[in-house]
Amino acid sequence: MNSIQTEKKKIRLLFVCLGNICRSPAAEGIMKRIVDKNELQDIIEVDSACTSGWHEGDLPDERMRVQGDARGYDFSSKARKFRKTDFDQFDYIIVMDDDNYNNVKSLASSSEQVKKIRMMTEFLVQNAHHKYIPDPYYGDSSGFELVLDLLEDANEGLLQAIKKKYSL
Ligand code: 4NP
Repeated sequence: MNSIQTEKKKIRLLFVCLGNICRSPAAEGIMKRIVDKNELQDIIEVDSACTSGWHEGDLPDERMRVQGDARGYDFSSKARKFRKTDFDQFDYIIVMDDDNYNNVKSLASSSEQVKKIRMMTEFLVQNAHHKYIPDPYYGDSSGFELVLDLLEDANEGLLQAIKKKYSL
């Protein structure tokens, strides 16, 4: 890496859902692999958090880990609650549904912070008709498959949007 790249500010992404054990840790794991594949590890950082705090410290739900393994992902981040300081730490705060959006927005203290909150579905390419990433927690395995399909699609779209915005 040359000195100009070293001085570049990192682009920080935070994925947020209700429990941080199904959708957002999967989004984090998928995006990390995309970032690695594109050799952007020194530029893009990825994390995830929840609005509820119900599962703080837990690994992702076993059903999500099993489905992730089947696609070659390692979903192993531990759940943590979204905090107001995340607005300062992250450039994109990417939520899965309207409830997540409203919960995160209620903690924002400026219009600049609100602008950082984005719906994951904004970045869908193949599945653009989906308006939220459905909560799979109380459903069967097909719900987890759908979530992974949507997150793979949206994360590819998100990377393209970031590449364009930051001329990467
Ligand atoms: P997530 O799914 O928000 O995608 O992590 C959920 C996880 C746990 C619960 C609900 C949704 N729960 O009710 O405990």
